[in-house]
Amino acid sequence: MRTQVGIVGAGPAGLMLSHMLHLKGIESIVLELRSRDYVEKRVRAGVLEHGAMDLINAVGIGDRMMREGMAHHGVNLRFDGETHRIDFEQLTGRGIVVYGQQEVVKDLIAARLEAGGQILFESSEVRLRDIDAKSPTIHFRHNGEDLLLHCDMIAGCDGFHGVCRPSIPDGVLRIHEHTFPFGWLGILAEAEPSSEELIYASHDRGFALHSMRSPTIVRNYIQCEPDEDINEWPDNRIWEELQRRMETREGFRLNEGRILEKGVTPMRGFVAEPMQYGNLYLAGDSAHIVPPTGAKGMNLALKDIKILADAMITRYETGGTDKLEDYSRRCVLGVWRAQHFSWWMTSMLHRFNQHDVYQRQLQLSQLRYVTGSEAAARSLAENYVGMLWDL
Ligand code: FAD
Ligand code: DHB
Repeated sequence: MRTQVGIVGAGPAGLMLSHMLHLKGIESIVLELRSRDYVEKRVRAGVLEHGAMDLINAVGIGDRMMREGMAHHGVNLRFDGETHRIDFEQLTGRGIVVYGQQEVVKDLIAARLEAGGQILFESSEVRLRDIDAKSPTIHFRHNGEDLLLHCDMIAGCDGFHGVCRPSIPDGVLRIHEHTFPFGWLGILAEAEPSSEELIYASHDRGFALHSMRSPTIVRNYIQCEPDEDINEWPDNRIWEELQRRMETREGFRLNEGRILEKGVTPMRGFVAEPMQYGNLYLAGDSAHIVPPTGAKGMNLALKDIKILADAMITRYETGGTDKLEDYSRRCVLGVWRAQHFSWWMTSMLHRFNQHDVYQRQLQLSQLRYVTGSEAAARSLAENYVGMLWDL
């Protein structure tokens, strides 16, 4: 088999790249380990920055997002039993859209298949060969057959646990990593949202987040141990803990409902640099992950693709490779901004077991400052709605 760009992974990054290349007449084939049903149902992130929303609209797949996505103009920080709103619109002139990652994935898959695009679901044993040669190849297994895909370039969009990053020879990548001593237990439940906008709560018992997916579906998270056993969390324990961490002096109650899904995510920051080796370009979670506080993961993946698609298109249209050579440098600037913001939000809002009372007071003072000073609130707002899309 032969194509121009071989793409490993049908998450937001791989699918968006395939779609953007197609719009310029460039062929690609996407190899995905899982089934279509699995990737369309995988519940993950839910917040799109303004720039991500603009990109989705610009490439012609934004209709459903504009209809069903929930436009939010701010977020709430809750501590000491009180709620403080950060008004994004007033502070930055921008907002965010709450629209599930799997909905973005569904819209992209539909657009690719409608245009005759090839996504080979359930492709296993993917191995990259000759990535530093002129024509790299991808070996894989599909429908019981061993196949070989020749291409000009490979996009490694196969997430943190994929095979592309480990295909780069030892000693090439610089790895920067930080593991947080906690995780998030996330649920999706059938209930009406209890607030118009998200609530990030810092409580002595630990962090909690109230988010949503639609007028009838909520997504809530609670800080837990990184290796928490989900079996020790029957539904009533989850609701009880959420209610305690979300409590206010005014007697706030979260709407409860049937839990449709639950899972534990560990929290880490990770950056592999450079995001390129030979003709292999890493994008999204395969190159970097952030702790989820601040909802940057999917946005960063889409931002990488905006830069990568532009560089690949320039190569095919003009033969120029300057943008490809500059790809990693351009992405990494935004990656570190997002790392810092996510680390900062995580550190300000979570309970650290080793903290003493002094350190808890520092967190509370920071929260009061961020919600009390317009300059500090604007800094949070600017980072939350997203920057560096126009680099
Ligand atoms: P992915 O979405 O991970 O896509 C990679 C694709 O590659 C997958 O479809 C995978 O099946 C496929 N793949 C993997 N290995 C192979 C292989 N060997 N061969 C072929 N295909 C392969 N971010 C937030 O902002 N908020 C959240 O609440 C949040 N929750 C998350 C929960 C979990 C469990 C995880 C893992 C991530 C979460 N994230 C969250 C992060 C966010 O979802 C990611 O940043 C985003 O998915 C990145 O997109 P991507 O396309 O780079 O990678
Ligand atoms: C969601 C996830 C996040 O990590 C976050 O900071 C806000 C919202 C969500 O899944 O809705």
